[in-house]
Amino acid sequence: MMIKAQVDELLAQMTPAEKAGQLTQYFYFRLPEGAEQVLDFDADAQPKMVESKLQEGVAGSLLFLTDPAEINRLQRLAVEGNRLGIPLLIGFDVIHGLRTILPVPIAMAASWDLQTIERGQAVAAREARAVGIHWTFAPMVDIARDPRWGRIIEGAGEDPYLGAAVAAAQVRGFQGPELGTPERVIAGPKHLAGYGYALGGRDYDEVNLSDSELWNVVFPPFRAAVAAGAGNVMTGYMDLNGIPATGNRWLFTEVLRETWGFDGFVVSDANAVRNLLTHGFAADLTDAGARAVNAGVDMEMAISDAAYAQLPEALRTGATDAQTIDASVRRILEAKIRLGLFDAPYVDEDRAREVLSDPAHRDVARIAAERSAVLLRNEGGLLPLDVTALRAVAVIGPLADSARDTIGPWVFDFDLDETVTVLEGIRTRAGDAVRVEYARGIPVVQREFPSLFDMFGGNTPSDPEGFDSDAEFRQAVELARDADIAVVVVGEWQNMISEMASRSSLELPGRQLELLQAVVATGTPVVLLVMNGRPLDLRWPAENVPAILDIWYPGTQGGAAVANLLFGDVSPGGKLPFTWPRTVGQVPMIYAHTRSHEPENQGKRYWDEASTPLFPFGHGLSYGRFDYANLSVDQPTTTTTGTTTVSVEVTNTSAREADEVVQLYLHQRYGTASRPVRELKGFQRVTLAAGESRTLSFPVGPDERRYWNAAAHDWVTDAATFDIWVGGDSTATLNTTIEVTAT
Ligand code: NOJ
Repeated sequence: MMIKAQVDELLAQMTPAEKAGQLTQYFYFRLPEGAEQVLDFDADAQPKMVESKLQEGVAGSLLFLTDPAEINRLQRLAVEGNRLGIPLLIGFDVIHGLRTILPVPIAMAASWDLQTIERGQAVAAREARAVGIHWTFAPMVDIARDPRWGRIIEGAGEDPYLGAAVAAAQVRGFQGPELGTPERVIAGPKHLAGYGYALGGRDYDEVNLSDSELWNVVFPPFRAAVAAGAGNVMTGYMDLNGIPATGNRWLFTEVLRETWGFDGFVVSDANAVRNLLTHGFAADLTDAGARAVNAGVDMEMAISDAAYAQLPEALRTGATDAQTIDASVRRILEAKIRLGLFDAPYVDEDRAREVLSDPAHRDVARIAAERSAVLLRNEGGLLPLDVTALRAVAVIGPLADSARDTIGPWVFDFDLDETVTVLEGIRTRAGDAVRVEYARGIPVVQREFPSLFDMFGGNTPSDPEGFDSDAEFRQAVELARDADIAVVVVGEWQNMISEMASRSSLELPGRQLELLQAVVATGTPVVLLVMNGRPLDLRWPAENVPAILDIWYPGTQGGAAVANLLFGDVSPGGKLPFTWPRTVGQVPMIYAHTRSHEPENQGKRYWDEASTPLFPFGHGLSYGRFDYANLSVDQPTTTTTGTTTVSVEVTNTSAREADEVVQLYLHQRYGTASRPVRELKGFQRVTLAAGESRTLSFPVGPDERRYWNAAAHDWVTDAATFDIWVGGDSTATLNTTIEVTAT
């Protein structure tokens, strides 16, 4: 039967309550110890309530399940409880892996390697689908320009061009070429829109965004995700320009569906429909449900009491209408049919176990971690280390041997025994001939205000019993003194970044800087590894530590990847997906700012600190060396509809194979709006053998030059002179120009 006919047939038989049920998704979890007080609801009552909804046929979807046996059990309750046999859609936050944990999303973006990103999310999808998850609440494609906001870690950073490319690659990885591809899941880009601009970086707070910023910066990754076929989109929690995103018809109907042609379904963020009351937007729960569904939010994600359970009442009062409800139900049923759930609602639990332990997945995770590391500094070529010349290595810092922190936040079904820490990776790679000794140096640092995720995500274990801070500190320094090299790992503990993890400072928590300074003072050369999901205040290390490698939270195989990088089996090739500020007072700081009065003083906008970044957007060093030459354009003059091809020759002048991310930046000199000093408009990650030269080409056409003009309320392509730079970061100097004339 055709999908449409099957949906028509079901719809014709459904009652308003059953329809409302299809539009409702419930959390299903057993609360961890201590969570009850925080969440303020009854631990036993929640699963019971959900099960009774399944048996009555009034729940369409569940989230927060990962156990295939449990998923099968609940699916059976639903299929058998529902008189039409409609299966459940099971959703989950598969953000950077389910069992095999990939580097965190910001790290994957730092690889600038779309194939690696796609492959990684395909592995995540395969594991998820094997256990019975059909849909991931990912990728998060929110542009993040304020690193105080903890969720910067879940996205691709500050740039809309990179963000759009990464968003599309993730959708392809999760979903495959089309919705319904075997071993894949529905991708749900989130959170439409503007969540990354929360006032002061404070999670969930309001967002005020100009028209230009929305269209030119915030929307492009969503548009790209939709164009790549994303089957779902999630709303945001916050107010956007005074209207709660979840009640915003303009966003979900006019922009998403009518302008971008989205044909999937929209889900609210958790409890965001109910929150329309909290915002002071909806009058009561029925009003909240009606206004969300009228705005185009097809499904409500509800923690307990669903507003969408009131939709039959809203129908009776005329607050919504049958057509709107049916359109939403249609979208949900279509997704279930396209996924094949009516034919195969259950999963094979033995097969799930096999898929989860597939060693090929771990290789993908290791390669991703190798490719996402960013070499921030390497004075005197300290890295790579020559293992044959080493006698003793000191590994220092609590993060160096914390499996839980190595895999980062937003993971729930991980296996710590499978996780390779930095210490373990170095030990294995260095072999018996090298003495690798470890000292924590300082205690684990706790948050001032704990997070809900500390309970659900399995927090970092506290310090070993009898931990003596002063003795540990001294021991770390002594180890460093006696070693040929000290590898110090600093950063944030995994619960200090992500949702509910915004910060008012970017300093290294606890005594980490002090420890680092003491280790450096021994005179032993220091390699600093940074475990982070946001830029941290590295002003002192950037002047005093010869080698700094940003390893992010590198995932299950993190330690193995780090060892391969340190010992030169692979060369780092990642590049920063954000501008790295010197200090928190500079944020937000972006490379694509516009020019204004006294641009020669751009670096002196504060009287107390340079207003330049510590590391620019796109920065990342390599063990190779790259020369850029012969920048040329095939057509120095073109029209507003014409495309110019820009070519550049890149040579690896070093004696080893290495990767470079070649970046193209564009600037429009004048026109009907002022345009950023530079904008990324092309990139390619290439592997070049020692001495190899390659000519790379980039198109610069209407797509690259077009922008949303706030005065015209429309897209424009101006006739103007354009500057083009090509190089290895956003400060590239090799440049040329093109003239664009009116068509
Ligand atoms: C709230 C978060 O904002 C969203 O990103 C996530 O997918 C849901 N919770 C479900 O966990």
